[in-house]
Amino acid sequence: MKNEPIIPEDGLVSTSHSTDAATINWFHSFQLPDGRSIEGVKSLDILLSEADIFFGDDLCGKTVLDVGAWDGFFSFEAERRGAARVLATDHFCWSGSGWGTRQGFDFIHHNLNSGVESLDVDVLALDPQVLGQFDLVLLLGVLYHVKDPYGCLEAAARMCADHLVIETVTALASETLPAMRLYKPGELGGDPTNFWAPNVPALELMLSNFGFTRIEVSPSPVSRSHPLNQGAGGFLRPKVKKDASHRTIIHAWR
Ligand SMILES: C[S@@+](CC[C@H](N)C(=O)[O-])C[C@H]1O[C@@H](n2cnc3c(N)ncnc32)[C@H](O)[C@@H]1O
Repeated sequence: MKNEPIIPEDGLVSTSHSTDAATINWFHSFQLPDGRSIEGVKSLDILLSEADIFFGDDLCGKTVLDVGAWDGFFSFEAERRGAARVLATDHFCWSGSGWGTRQGFDFIHHNLNSGVESLDVDVLALDPQVLGQFDLVLLLGVLYHVKDPYGCLEAAARMCADHLVIETVTALASETLPAMRLYKPGELGGDPTNFWAPNVPALELMLSNFGFTRIEVSPSPVSRSHPLNQGAGGFLRPKVKKDASHRTIIHAWR
């Protein structure tokens, strides 16, 4: 991290960890230390496979910013894997118009006795002058939900001192020019909060514009072609035409 973090008091949201887990609409799944399991929309298998790809071998001593953390699986997992400091941020599903709430994050935070910090802030309002920069910034499952993906990626990049990980829907795989596809409301996954999917050349160009010099692209475990997403009940299989979209993970380094 380049600057010392200063978390504004008025950005912090009070916790509600006394809520019963059964009353929470979970997006992430968890295995609690006391043996209880929480089954969210995203299975623990998928989450752990993703975490292996996002975090690699060594998080020890690193500072991590999780943008769009929701229930916070990746924030708590970063802490479990040895990160020195983790800040989870969200807005749409914590206090905005998303169907999610912050209750899951608070419940897990309490049950893990976690030191993960949290801030309710829109991605476009993230300010490195206020929060400092982080060694690792996660922008997972957020880019296609925002109306201004260029500005969103730029805002996440500003927070990053070294390594940015993006997980996103990608489209236009056969287009060699940098391009983004705009979806009709509800067209992508039946979710009207999905707007844009870039192709990989567009992601590479944006990341280069934001000062990243090394980029690695890999398929996500939730891509249609990935073994974890084959067969009946595959996770989040997009309800769009074959070959129309994929999910992709991008690692970018300064
Ligand atoms: C599909 S969920 C992904 C959750 C988690 N990052 C993951 O990958 O499993 C999308 C997340 O992005 C958040 N999000 C959407 N728009 C946002 C915005 N403008 N600012 C901050 N978070 C936003 C939502 O609240 C939600 O938590």
